[in-house]
Amino acid sequence: MKIAVVGSTGLVGSEILKVLEERNFPVTELIPVASERSVGKQITFKGKQVTVVSFEDAIAAKPAIAIFSAGGGTSLKLAPLFAEAGITVVDNSSAWRMDPTKKLVVPEINAHTLTKEDKIIANPNCSTIQMVVVLNPLHKKYGVKRVVVSTYQSVTGTGKAAVDQLFAERSGDQSTQKVYPHPIDLNVLPHIDVFLDNGYTKEEMKMVNETKKIMGDDTIQVTATTVRIPTIGGHSEAVNVEFENDFDVTDVTKILSEADGVIVQDDPKNYLYPMPLTAHGKDEVFVGRIRRDESQGNTLNLWIVADNLRKGAATNAVQIAEYLAENNLV
Ligand SMILES: NC(=O)c1ccc[n+]([C@@H]2O[C@H](COP(=O)([O-])OP(=O)(O)OC[C@H]3O[C@@H](n4cnc5c(N)ncnc54)[C@H](OP(=O)(O)O)[C@@H]3O)[C@@H](O)[C@H]2O)c1
Repeated sequence: MKIAVVGSTGLVGSEILKVLEERNFPVTELIPVASERSVGKQITFKGKQVTVVSFEDAIAAKPAIAIFSAGGGTSLKLAPLFAEAGITVVDNSSAWRMDPTKKLVVPEINAHTLTKEDKIIANPNCSTIQMVVVLNPLHKKYGVKRVVVSTYQSVTGTGKAAVDQLFAERSGDQSTQKVYPHPIDLNVLPHIDVFLDNGYTKEEMKMVNETKKIMGDDTIQVTATTVRIPTIGGHSEAVNVEFENDFDVTDVTKILSEADGVIVQDDPKNYLYPMPLTAHGKDEVFVGRIRRDESQGNTLNLWIVADNLRKGAATNAVQIAEYLAENNLV
């Protein structure tokens, strides 16, 4: 299958190339695309050098699927051009996620809703993906009523320039381009994406709205505080979840240990709990610190960690592409 990767020189794009290789996706030809300034550059795929091309050349090459990770503006402009040429787009940006005519897909939860007619498919926000992969199996058994989530998000979520800012600050170089309005090294910023009129950030509202859309239940209440921290391995989340029905913590642990794409790491006595350092480079979502909230009935506390560039972006997008290929939907 011919595959285009739009944004192939970026953080998520490079991870998509790695994941396609590792999972042995049947790529017959890889078509890497980036901005005009990168056309002609070489990237490495399966040990071979491949030349970055323009989006026009990529459309002319007629790939079956184009995986986009090139920002919302680029996606709004280019995804329809690919779709009109019959190419199925899997898009990592926020451009199409809440469009009622587009599906927002986490394969473990709702890939079965995809059809041949879906020409632009949205990949959810990274913080939302890792949370719903854990919540959905519990929702089926106990019914999620309300979620209170605080995130601790990696600088890799902002792209290459943010990683450069962190390491430049750490080395004492203050001349690097600033992505954040404050220093990020030795600091914590309660600010991810832009502030909205309601006082929340766009990232916080993504977690509220995308959770309902992916889990297919508008009654689920979500409130979020999203925070940037100086780490690179992945995003962490403290999640407090109130259910309609009571649960047994042992059963919760069993359900999660059997859930697709989830690994339970919960042995506090031996200091085993999920961390960005150990989640880095992994495709799964890790959950630990599973305990009852003793202040309120039917309520559970969880600590959820995943590599935002993997399950939060590249892995989820490649899994969607795998589903499309395996089910002859492209
Ligand atoms: N980082 C994450 O955890 C994460 C998670 C989920 C979703 N996403 C989304 O994925 C997208 C990319 O994020 P990133 O972190 O990989 O950013 P990044 O490292 O800054 O990379 C951006 C990529 O987009 C390309 N690009 C920019 N303008 C373009 C254009 N006009 N036409 C074609 N390609 C263009 C860039 O090419 P050049 O190298 O030529 O500039 C580069 O390959 C964003 O929409 C982001 O919201 C990121």
